[in-house]
Amino acid sequence: MSILEVLKARKAIRKYNPREVEEEKILKLLESATWAPNDRLREPWHFYVIRGEAKQQYEKIASDFLTERFPTKPSLVQESMSVIQSTPLLVVVTSDIIPDDVDSSEDNEYAVACAIHSMWLMASELELGLVWRTRGVGLIRDERLHKFIGSPENKKIIGTLFVGYPESETPRTTRTSFSNKTTWL
Ligand SMILES: Cc1cc2nc3c(=O)[nH]c(=O)nc-3n(C[C@H](O)[C@H](O)[C@H](O)COP(=O)(O)O)c2cc1C
Repeated sequence: MSILEVLKARKAIRKYNPREVEEEKILKLLESATWAPNDRLREPWHFYVIRGEAKQQYEKIASDFLTERFPTKPSLVQESMSVIQSTPLLVVVTSDIIPDDVDSSEDNEYAVACAIHSMWLMASELELGLVWRTRGVGLIRDERLHKFIGSPENKKIIGTLFVGYPESETPRTTRTSFSNKTTWL
């Protein structure tokens, strides 16, 4: 496939079958991330691989978060919980915050976004489904998730990647043509 074809084939996959993701494939995802461009080679990323027992702890945090957030919507809480329960693998990705250097900290986040995109592309080659989550069950702004990964100082959570073998075919989303988004000066 050409690079454009690969980019067009990448999709957010949110439903997985129960098959575990092989360790060999997890290593490939992580390796692909580390080749992302990054300012001054700070390599500002860190990955927290969550499966098995650790995933049960993630589920507990998510359940507390959802119950607090949606106290009057138990069916929404249940639905969101089943999303996590049916996901075999989670990877939390952080970016290094550089004390007293807002600009470099921001550049670090851009680099981590590139790294996540590389993992997303790699996932499609490995026949895995992946979605980058920030909202809801992604928990990235919940202090409990930060604590769960070890309260790392000076690290900001950029995303939680949900990964697994796709359950079914997901339709391709569409895009606005670049011609509507480009100004030639
Ligand atoms: C920074 C970022 C945050 C996202 N957060 C979520 C999320 O919280 N929940 C979710 O279901 N999808 C999330 N997504 C996935 C997008 O919804 C998805 O990429 C978009 O719908 C386009 O679909 P496609 O990836 O299949 O082209 C996120 C994507 C990005 C880049």
